[in-house]
Amino acid sequence: MPLRHTMVTDTLGRPLRDLRISLTDRCNMRCRYCMPREHFDNHEFLSRNEILSYEELAMVVESLVPLGLEKIRLTGGEPLLRRDVCSFIEMLPKDLDLAMTTNGILLEKFAERLAASGLKRVTVSLDALDIETFQAMGDTSEKPETVLRGIEAARMAGLKVKVNTVIRAGYNEHSVQKIAERFLGTDVVVRYIEFMDVGETNSWNTGEVITGEMMRSMLDDLMPLKENHVGEVANRYQRGGQEIGFIESVSKPFCGDCNRARISADGSLYTCLFANRGNDLKSLLRMDATKEQIACAVRDIWGKRDDAYSQNRGEIVDRKIEMSFIGG
Ligand code: GTP
Ligand code: 5AD
Ligand code: SF4
Ligand code: SF4
Repeated sequence: MPLRHTMVTDTLGRPLRDLRISLTDRCNMRCRYCMPREHFDNHEFLSRNEILSYEELAMVVESLVPLGLEKIRLTGGEPLLRRDVCSFIEMLPKDLDLAMTTNGILLEKFAERLAASGLKRVTVSLDALDIETFQAMGDTSEKPETVLRGIEAARMAGLKVKVNTVIRAGYNEHSVQKIAERFLGTDVVVRYIEFMDVGETNSWNTGEVITGEMMRSMLDDLMPLKENHVGEVANRYQRGGQEIGFIESVSKPFCGDCNRARISADGSLYTCLFANRGNDLKSLLRMDATKEQIACAVRDIWGKRDDAYSQNRGEIVDRKIEMSFIGG
């Protein structure tokens, strides 16, 4: 039976357009704001049979296309740690916007194969250009040059590149200027992210948030770009022909048009980055459900969705899921 082509909207009228797939909960960095070593070095990561196979994930994607899905973002943890990730990209419908968020450590090695598999864009996390700050924020012995080589390789392979820089008070305010300068005159879009209260382990407090407004005051000659695309998280500006975005989820929440669903590596669907509970799709998949049945289950979950965490910050006290598990 052909799938019914009807868009789904939630209780606030928001469609489901964007699916963020966490391919693994593991990462080869230990960013202090995301996977602090004291919490994650002895963490029990998911085992192989717990995580969804590529066939199962492709089945979820195909089931959601008729509901209005337009964009897939592969995340983690670090998605390039998952074996044979290119073979998964090859399985995805090419009329979708296919993107990946990566820390860039393995990007130089994979860039060409990623592009050849059908990936269109990569977003690379880079919090500092100087080795001291890079290693302190990432709690890593890796070097920023490795990430920069990854970015270059991605550009050479024809991928569109964005850089994500989380700014945290007392750590890397200087990165606002340094990173903008580093990519001036290139086609790389730089986006600065406010430090968010995601998860339970990064000991977030408001004192460590540098707001987008504060970041903009560190850059001269910024010109706002016209409207944002619907559902886009960054407020876009231009500076010397270069695009710069600010992801201000703390000071200017953007839940109003949030069209993002997330699937954890172990097959739960989350309707908000700050959710404390997912919706089990794995059991359904492993009972040999049809695409129609998966679409029906997701339609039901999305239809009940009323999440707007960033807008209601402070009112919610339940334990939140970790970002490395659910994917940024
Ligand atoms: P584009 O398709 O290029 O616009 O990608 P994107 O901005 O959706 O993806 P990316 O992984 O680069 O996300 C950037 C950052 O924005 C994430 O790492 C999060 O910090 C933040 N972010 C993304 N989606 C959400 C969301 O739904 N809610 C909140 N609060 N923050 C989000
Ligand atoms: N606040 C803001 N951004 C975060 N990221 C991870 N944890 C946080 C946090 N607590 C960012 C990463 C990456 C993206 C997926 O999310 O740096 O760029
Ligand atoms: Fe890994 Fe990205 Fe989290 Fe850093 S922010 S620990 S690179 S998943
Ligand atoms: Fe969407 Fe939740 Fe983020 Fe708001 S807080 S933008 S509802 S994911």
